[in-house]
Amino acid sequence: MQKEAYLQIAKEAALAAGKYLLSESVKAINIEQDKDIKLFADKNSEKIILDCLKSQYDIPVLTEESGELGTIGEGLYWIVDPIDGTYNYLKGLDLCCVSIALWEGTTPILGVIYEFKNDKLYTGIVGKGAWCNHERISTSQIDALGKASLATGFPVYRDYSDQSLVQFTESVKCFKKIRMFGTAATSITYVAAGKVDAYMEEDIMLWDVAAGVALVLAAGGAVVLEQGNKKWTRKTMCFANDRLKENYLNEILGNR
Ligand code: IPD
Ligand code: CA
Repeated sequence: MQKEAYLQIAKEAALAAGKYLLSESVKAINIEQDKDIKLFADKNSEKIILDCLKSQYDIPVLTEESGELGTIGEGLYWIVDPIDGTYNYLKGLDLCCVSIALWEGTTPILGVIYEFKNDKLYTGIVGKGAWCNHERISTSQIDALGKASLATGFPVYRDYSDQSLVQFTESVKCFKKIRMFGTAATSITYVAAGKVDAYMEEDIMLWDVAAGVALVLAAGGAVVLEQGNKKWTRKTMCFANDRLKENYLNEILGNR
């Protein structure tokens, strides 16, 4: 497989979508339901990405706005989030991005995250390395929980019962600092870039995390993915390194 060729087309698609999103001055809401919000820009960005990817590769796509296009199985497929951090984008906050991943079955192959407002293009191929624009990035060496920062959030489909929220608080209070950026994809990218040391969200959609997970692995980090409460939701945990992952899992198991 020509991974570089797939990466190239994913980069082109992300840049084209980012250019469109920057030019979109009217951010009209398409659907607002419970904790979710969708803009017409989500759909338009997705079309730009799909047209670009499909022009080169006729493989299935799992995408936020249209779901499963083709049969997702053990072979190659794209995973697309046309805007991650839609609410930030709507509100004029800078942290939002376009996210495109290539996976083979359950194996992440590569990821592209374009933080279009900051013109930062993060790319990574698992086993080869990760970059921000042309600079190599890598995860941090911090392995003590008490020194580590965690990025997290409250996804649309998570369990908001008191019991679940208390359990969640218990499971993250061991970290030194906790941050919520409002975009899972960017949060995970920051683990890959060594800006935070860990990321965790429960019942997050796979398209929110797929490219970031590939970047973290490409940048030297470790990932744990567990099936969530829906077909495409995952409990997602990303760590700067294996030692931090082990320390976290031991701490949590020890407290159960
Ligand atoms: C959202 C962001 C947010 C997460 C939400 C997602 P969207 O994605 O990733 O960080 O907590 O669950 O829905 O809706 O902006 O693509
Ligand atoms: Ca999205």
